[in-house]
Amino acid sequence: MSPFLPGDLAVDCVKSLSPYVPGKPIEELQRELGIRDIVKLASNENPAGPSPRALAAMHAALGDAWLYPDGSGHELKHKLAAKLGVNVDQLTLGNGSNDVLVLIAEAFLKPGLEAVYSRYAFAVYPIATHATGAAGVVAPALPVDSPMPFGHDLAAMRRSITSNTRVVFVANPNNPTGTWVPAAELRRFVADLPADVIVVLDEAYYEYAGGLDIQNGVSWLADFPNLVVVRTFSKAYGLAGLRVGYAVSHASVAGMLNRVRQAFNVSSIALAGAAAALEDEAHVDAAVKIAVAERARVAAALNALGTKTVPTAGNFLLIEAGPNALRRYDALLRAGVIVRPVVNYGLAEHLRVTLGFPEQNDRFLAAWQKVLVA
Ligand SMILES: Cc1ncc(COP(=O)(O)O)c(C=O)c1O
Repeated sequence: MSPFLPGDLAVDCVKSLSPYVPGKPIEELQRELGIRDIVKLASNENPAGPSPRALAAMHAALGDAWLYPDGSGHELKHKLAAKLGVNVDQLTLGNGSNDVLVLIAEAFLKPGLEAVYSRYAFAVYPIATHATGAAGVVAPALPVDSPMPFGHDLAAMRRSITSNTRVVFVANPNNPTGTWVPAAELRRFVADLPADVIVVLDEAYYEYAGGLDIQNGVSWLADFPNLVVVRTFSKAYGLAGLRVGYAVSHASVAGMLNRVRQAFNVSSIALAGAAAALEDEAHVDAAVKIAVAERARVAAALNALGTKTVPTAGNFLLIEAGPNALRRYDALLRAGVIVRPVVNYGLAEHLRVTLGFPEQNDRFLAAWQKVLVA
């Protein structure tokens, strides 16, 4: 008989969860292989980092760390509302947008209900869904030979919606594929949904659109009360470690999300840093410009080496790495370059590479060239 483990007392829907697999931290690789000068291109972080204004605001906020944060996020919400052209009561702040996704699941899902998402969609959707006891319904993705390989197939997602569906998650663009859905097609999909389905438009990489046909979902909120747009400071704002994200929705939806939200889910340092970051759009624009240029340059360089890439609207590239993808991932680690395996997504022959600064990407390209002939 197997020994009693107190963890087995967890509820079944939690026991059956597959844990989120993060990118390998730089310190871990240093410890494991004893190498220095490591380039991490594994977690879609923005190498430009925080705006100097955000840094100054965070430093200034440190002395007040003994006080609880402003649980209403007054300053950050007012700045966001002004920037986005929405009312403050339409906003919900989260400890990263991951937190917001979990709040949506907690507020709108329970056993017997369903959430629909695409195969290869962001890994947090199934985790957040299953943790509530609701069922996750996986819609097949676009085929590998389509212009958006592995991307969301909105027609298949529509077909997956039943009378039990309460939430549908659309990542635009999607991680880890980088693929996106054209604006007109997305609008038709949202307009055609039953009114009792909450549609979550995850725009974590929205700022990286770079002229591609990517809708600003916030501008549709007035037309679709069941729409929830999710954004983050982790990517283009260079604040992944700070953990700030938000949802923009109908005020009644925000009211429900705020009921399940922990009163102090965003720290005082994070509130100060994010509010100041909003005032430095030039910093964001400069980082986005580099990523947009680099995604074209790195994709072209990979294609020239015979490595196929999936079209991307994010700050990362999904690349075809062949049956030896994991061995190649290991070889890159030994060369001091951390990328991201995507086996957990069912993409065993691909790797995801975040776009860093040009010299970091060159380190990856040089290492990849060696890996290909090894
Ligand atoms: C599509 C998508 N949504 C949400 C998130 C969550 O980001 P964060 O919690 O840092 O805001 C990520 C992070 O990688 C993502 O790729």
